[in-house]
Amino acid sequence: MSHPIIGDNLLSLINIRKDKENETREFYKNKVVIITGASMGIGKGLSLTLSQYGTKLALCARSADLLESLAQECKLKGAQDAIAITCDVTDQNDCKKAVEKTLQAFGGIDVLMLNAGISGSQPFQEMTDLSVFDKMMQVNFKGYVNFTFHALPHLKKSQNGRIGVMSSMSGLIGVPYRTAYCSSKYAVNGFFEVLRNELGKDSTLKITVMCPGWVDTDIRSRHVLKDNNDSQYKDKSKFMSVEDCVNGTLYAVAIGKRDERFQMLPRIIPLIKAVSAKTVDGIISKYVSGTPSKL
Ligand SMILES: NC(=O)c1ccc[n+]([C@@H]2O[C@H](COP(=O)([O-])OP(=O)(O)OC[C@H]3O[C@@H](n4cnc5c(N)ncnc54)[C@H](OP(=O)(O)O)[C@@H]3O)[C@@H](O)[C@H]2O)c1
Repeated sequence: MSHPIIGDNLLSLINIRKDKENETREFYKNKVVIITGASMGIGKGLSLTLSQYGTKLALCARSADLLESLAQECKLKGAQDAIAITCDVTDQNDCKKAVEKTLQAFGGIDVLMLNAGISGSQPFQEMTDLSVFDKMMQVNFKGYVNFTFHALPHLKKSQNGRIGVMSSMSGLIGVPYRTAYCSSKYAVNGFFEVLRNELGKDSTLKITVMCPGWVDTDIRSRHVLKDNNDSQYKDKSKFMSVEDCVNGTLYAVAIGKRDERFQMLPRIIPLIKAVSAKTVDGIISKYVSGTPSKL
């Protein structure tokens, strides 16, 4: 029935949102979920929202104190259980142990949320050494591969196994000043495209690759490269909230969507690129130059 004040359109939008939330809640209930990079930012947001859906959580990152208090908070919020696992994703043995600890605690793994990452931006021509390329590849790319390698056999045993991959718009477009970060995210996208094909279209284990633009976390204060172009982050209208990123991610992974682009820019850019790559160069340069963008 139509609502006298808010009208039919808004009402149906609210209903769609509620349906999605119910579907998401239903999917994650009782599921065992590993989250990497859980101690802060998007990973923390994923952990807290999943708690409300009655999941069993294995929270992974390096900051033991932050993880311990997050595990307590998750249990208070409704998680069936939550364990804190201190681990550096660049260390294969740490990742192996994290998977083993999850199996010991919960007996299986249904969802692997790969999210631990670092960022940084600087024009390539101003770089004085290349160690940042190794670091970015080790954390952002190899960290995802390490966890996938050890968790894959167990995810395949789950009836509806899922791998949620937090990539970035920088895995789709050559964003200026981000040679190292973009390279690591392009590598991530390539790896999971191949793995999805190897699993085959009939696999019940689904891989969803998230490509958000800028999300409103403190990742920029932890940049491993300092750029002299901070003005690019001043226009807050370019940022997506952590809540929107988390909700979009959890729904996309639940329904086994191939990828999630969230915003207009990462959605349309690959289409425009196919027609005119030059136009995309112009758009993306404006985006990072501090010029407000409506996209
Ligand atoms: N924020 C954005 O604008 C944005 C946009 C697109 C994509 N993303 C992607 O989203 C993911 C999360 O970003 P965020 O903004 O939430 O970042 P964040 O707030 O800086 O959080 C990063 C998380 O990764 C963990 N981490 C970093 N290095 C690690 C290592 N070697 N081993 C284990 N854990 C490690 C950190 O925990 P510890 O320090 O405790 O280890 C932290 O929990 C990243 O993959 C990022 O590339 C972010």
